[in-house]
Parts: sequence; C-alpha cells; structure tokens
Amino acid sequence: MKKYLAAMAAIVFMTACGSGNNENKPAPGVEKTTDNSSNPDYQKGLALIAKNDCLTCHKVSEKLVGPAYKDVANKYTTADVSKLADKVLKGGTGVWGQIPMTPHPNLSKEDAEQIVKYILLLKTN
Ligand code: HEC
Repeated sequence: MKKYLAAMAAIVFMTACGSGNNENKPAPGVEKTTDNSSNPDYQKGLALIAKNDCLTCHKVSEKLVGPAYKDVANKYTTADVSKLADKVLKGGTGVWGQIPMTPHPNLSKEDAEQIVKYILLLKTN
C-alpha cells in the first residue's frame, strides 16, 4: 500500500511539473528571440568553443572577463568574421575595455572563423 501511494505521488508530482513548463523557453541564461541552434555554423562553432578556453573568459549572456557573446554578436555583422577571427588568434584590447584577450596561436584561422560565425548567431537584436 505504501509503495502504491509513493508511486501515485510520484506520478502526480511529475504531471504537476510537466504542465505549465511546456512553453518554448530558451535555456537558462540565454535570452534569444530567434533560435539558430539548428544552424550547422552554430553547431560546429559551439563544438570548437567547447574544446578551447573561450568560456573561461566569455559567457553567452553576461560579461565575464571578456564581453558577453550576445553583445559581440549585436555589435558586428558577418562582414566582420575574418577581422574578429584575427583578433581571437592574435589577442588584443581596447574595444570593450582595457582587459586584453589572450592570443590563441594554436587555433587555425578556419576554426577561429567557425567559432566567430557561431558567436554572431547569438544576436538578440
Ligand atoms: C583571458 C580571457 C579570454 C579568453 C581565454 C578569451 N577571450 Fe575573447 N575576449 C577577452 C577580452 C578581455 C575581450 C575584449 C577585448 C577588447 O576590449 O578589445 C575579448 C573579446 C573577444 C571578441 C570580440 C573582439 C572585438 O574586437 O570586439 C571575440 C569575438 C572573442 N573575444 C572571442 C573569443 C574566442 C573565440 C575565444 C576562445 C578561442 C576567446 N575569446 C577567449 C577575453 C578572453
């Protein structure tokens, strides 16, 4: 009997949680109007970012050591991909403040551009 009640409670609990939670909410911390996550450039760039140190200084929606990626995305267009990739490779300072970004000499230009394409897809405006 106890087991039966526990099972019932679990079912009620799960149903209660399920309802009202079905709106298409973005992941926590990600406020986005368009969902680009199925774009191949997004997926490839995200996979590369995960293998590098970018996320120790950058977050998608909040400033950390470096600017939030969504702010970077809102500032630039796809015409800036090559320029931004060079900045990632060489590092630099002065655009967002006085804190420098470290250079990333081990990244290929191609991979840096792929990561930048992902970042630019995080645009919110
Ligand atoms: C040590 C911390 C640090 C790491 C690691 C880091 N960044 Fe940055 N990043 C910064 C800072 C600080 C800035 C702002 C530089 C400036 O003001 O010019 C920045 C700026 C940027 C910008 C905008 C450049 C511009 O001129 O507007 C991009 C794009 C970027 N980072 C991508 C990356 C990527 C991709 C990686 C990983 C390969 C990475 N960052 C790793 C600190 C970091």
